[in-house]
Amino acid sequence: MCGIVGAVAQRDVSAILIEGLRRLEYRGYDSAGIALIDRNKLERFRALGKVQALADKISPEQAGSTGIAHTRWATHGAPSEVNAHPHFSRDRIALVHNGIIENYKEIREKLFADGYEFESETDTETVAHLIESYFEGDLYSAVHKAVGQLEGTFGLAVIVLDDPDTLVACRKGSPLVVGLGIQENFVASDVSALLPVTNRFIYLEEGDLVVINQKDYQIYGANGEPKELEVNITEMSADSISKGSYRHYMQKEIHEQANAVAECLEGRISENGVLDSVFGPDSDRIFKQVKQIQIVACGTSYHAGFVAKYWIEEILGLPCQIEVASEFRYRKSVVPQDTLFVTLSQSGETADTLAALRNLPLEDYCGSVSICNVPESSLVRESSLVLMTRAGPEIGVASTKAFTTQLVSMLLLIVSIGKARGLDESVIADIVHELRELPGQISELLKLDQQIEAVAEDFVDKHHALFLGRGVHYPIAMEGALKLKEISYIHAEAYPAGELKHGPLALVDTEMPVVVVTPNDDLLEKLHSNMQEVKARGGKLYVFAHQGAKLAETEDDVVIQMNCETRWTTPILSTIPLQLLSYYVAVQRGTDVDQPRNLAKSVTVE
Ligand code: AGP
Repeated sequence: MCGIVGAVAQRDVSAILIEGLRRLEYRGYDSAGIALIDRNKLERFRALGKVQALADKISPEQAGSTGIAHTRWATHGAPSEVNAHPHFSRDRIALVHNGIIENYKEIREKLFADGYEFESETDTETVAHLIESYFEGDLYSAVHKAVGQLEGTFGLAVIVLDDPDTLVACRKGSPLVVGLGIQENFVASDVSALLPVTNRFIYLEEGDLVVINQKDYQIYGANGEPKELEVNITEMSADSISKGSYRHYMQKEIHEQANAVAECLEGRISENGVLDSVFGPDSDRIFKQVKQIQIVACGTSYHAGFVAKYWIEEILGLPCQIEVASEFRYRKSVVPQDTLFVTLSQSGETADTLAALRNLPLEDYCGSVSICNVPESSLVRESSLVLMTRAGPEIGVASTKAFTTQLVSMLLLIVSIGKARGLDESVIADIVHELRELPGQISELLKLDQQIEAVAEDFVDKHHALFLGRGVHYPIAMEGALKLKEISYIHAEAYPAGELKHGPLALVDTEMPVVVVTPNDDLLEKLHSNMQEVKARGGKLYVFAHQGAKLAETEDDVVIQMNCETRWTTPILSTIPLQLLSYYVAVQRGTDVDQPRNLAKSVTVE
């Protein structure tokens, strides 16, 4: 779960590599480093903390036409300068790595016995020495031999002083792209890193190695045979990844949601339904067959799947299971006949979600669908039926617009399945009508911004918070709690409101803010009773009330009125004020909103 970038050019590549790291910082940001070859010199700069700390260390005179760079999310060894990449071997091999080498201990022991000295606690340094031990003048052969011995996952980029115009990179289980320039070539963990220098990319396949120099590149399959892969022109632009006039990416991404949802729907819905082409030509045959749905995802994407479970069972009348990918992938599960497998992922690179898909006995399922936001991701390239959420680049670690567009996408999936299975046309028309209204309603809700900023002040000195929800709003409460804890570091728990009396009520006192979203649905009165239980214990309620769900509040309650009344899209709308609440609490507590401690945007290790 680190970011790597490498370049071979005629010009100095240090600024390209630093900019590439800034764009990959979402993958990890506890240390960063760069290695440059300038004529006959291999130099390395490393810094603890963010890429800026590294940039501050590099003077304008430092240059190199070949280089590799890395931004780290620590796995083996604490965040420190000595554990930061690139790792060197005998001052001639330099290597950056994204992933985990599982058998590094035994390799390390052998290399140690052979006289290699280790300076770090990382698994990565072992690989640098292993490559050095095989190096006899040809970097490709040395890397090929070394990776044949590695177990685990890796995206690697390697340079050697003896062959200063060559860079060798390879991938297994970690993403890696080749960027093609004019008289210069690049590698990176993803395309965003290289958008300022090229729009032409090759997506390496599992086990591939690539040798690049200024003028050329050659790809080899895992068997060592040369191979060719398609060159793709990306539509993403370098500017699409900027904060604009917003203070944080997260703030910008919250405010982009009306547009993101409109984009997600564009060209996919008709007056009263969903177009046939949305999931591709084979989807109708598969959807007709579906008798059960299994959803697998992580984090916020898991919450989107959890909301969808409620919808699927209510709208389609089909049983639906939802499970976090890290559990599902290691569990023996029973697959009833005609089960559809659904994965959700913003990044499409989440290791557990990808592994769940890759290990799937596909013959046991009637099909698989992935809902994803990154067109160039591994998940998209490895899935049969795909729906892109089209939220646009999401940079803030806390997922916002990816979540709401995942929910919209799941409604599109549900309607498509419903259509294939003869769902009542009026239900389809109702859902589509509500989807159409959604962008406008989101824009209206975003006007609560200042009101919520003021409410957030109450949370600044709190240590804990409870989020309550019932029915489809239970996963929305989970998402609200996750958002608050990940960016404000306030401990937040979500409970189905009816569970309160079975334990968590013991936590409620005057210091415990309790956040509740109250939709105007069948469960409103039940929810009202649960809220009374909180008040009777001195807890302070923060209520986000949908239109028509006005409760007999007292002076102590904080009620934020949401002027929308919907049936199916209610959980999507409820998400918006909860995102704003977390955002403003974090801002007021002075945390690093876009890059909260210990986390990374794309979790490519398990
Ligand atoms: C969301 O705010 C989180 N940072 C995290 O839970 C995220 O949703 C999770 O890691 C899954 O990522 P994915 O959607 O890219 O698979």
